[in-house]
Amino acid sequence: MGDTPKLDTQLVEALNREYRLTPTVPAPAGLGREDRGARAAHVAARLDRLVGLRGRTILEIGCGAGDLAFELAGNYGAYVTGIDIGEREDWKTLRHPNLTLSAHDVTAGECALPENGFDRIISRAVWEHIRHPFAALVQCRRLLCPAGKKYLYANLYRSAIASHLYRTLFFPWPHLLFSHDVLASWLDVERIGGAYWVNKLTYAQYLCYFRKLGFYITHERLETRAIDRAFYDRFEDRLGLYPRFDLELDFFEVVLEFDRTNPKAPIPDPMYRTGA
Ligand SMILES: C[S@@+](CC[C@H](N)C(=O)[O-])C[C@H]1O[C@@H](n2cnc3c(N)ncnc32)[C@H](O)[C@@H]1O
Repeated sequence: MGDTPKLDTQLVEALNREYRLTPTVPAPAGLGREDRGARAAHVAARLDRLVGLRGRTILEIGCGAGDLAFELAGNYGAYVTGIDIGEREDWKTLRHPNLTLSAHDVTAGECALPENGFDRIISRAVWEHIRHPFAALVQCRRLLCPAGKKYLYANLYRSAIASHLYRTLFFPWPHLLFSHDVLASWLDVERIGGAYWVNKLTYAQYLCYFRKLGFYITHERLETRAIDRAFYDRFEDRLGLYPRFDLELDFFEVVLEFDRTNPKAPIPDPMYRTGA
């Protein structure tokens, strides 16, 4: 453990040079259309095994370019509604009678989507970008039918790769070490785009929200990444402020369901009784 050096753009530059040949994410996923299509097919098959998607009424929240929603409508006979906060050009090329893609903010109060209207709600790599993640979960509770299943896969803020800048910044946890201004100035941009912005929820906070909303976890998988001990020790002043459990945890994957005997029991408020 030593004193943390000055956290400025020179240090960003030096660390990046040092980590260029051993980047935290050695082979980032391809972003081209073919890569995305292949990934959607792979994910759809996995999700179908996990929660059963054939012929279901599905809501995909944060559908992005729409690849997964299209795959499910086309190859799984599912009735799919995909929503994303912003409309995408790619949507114009994705046409299927069972598929509806629309621009909608899941946290927006008013919502034309039907209460209890979906057998499955799925979301991948979205919740970390949602500004009001609890409001979005409340919306899921409203939209999911009582026997429904919600699949959620999300990145966590304290993970080594949560900055989403790992294609450019090769060392771990840049967002926990450097200020937004330092990173923006090193990247030579006025503002780091939306990709950088990840809400700061920990997994423990998610678990608390699930419980509060009456969601039970029926499947859980945690994706971890070993802590780079040499790096951690150099920046222990900063990184030691976070539990190692969180620093190791990149993504969580859960399936959420309601209690079969009492689905959608009223949300307790306040959550805990005192003096009982
Ligand atoms: C990293 S992308 C993932 C897209 C897609 N699920 C995938 O796996 O390729 C995150 C998406 O979440 C969307 N998003 C963020 N906040 C949202 C909100 N409040 N309501 C709906 N979509 C949102 C973003 O517009 C973006 O398309």
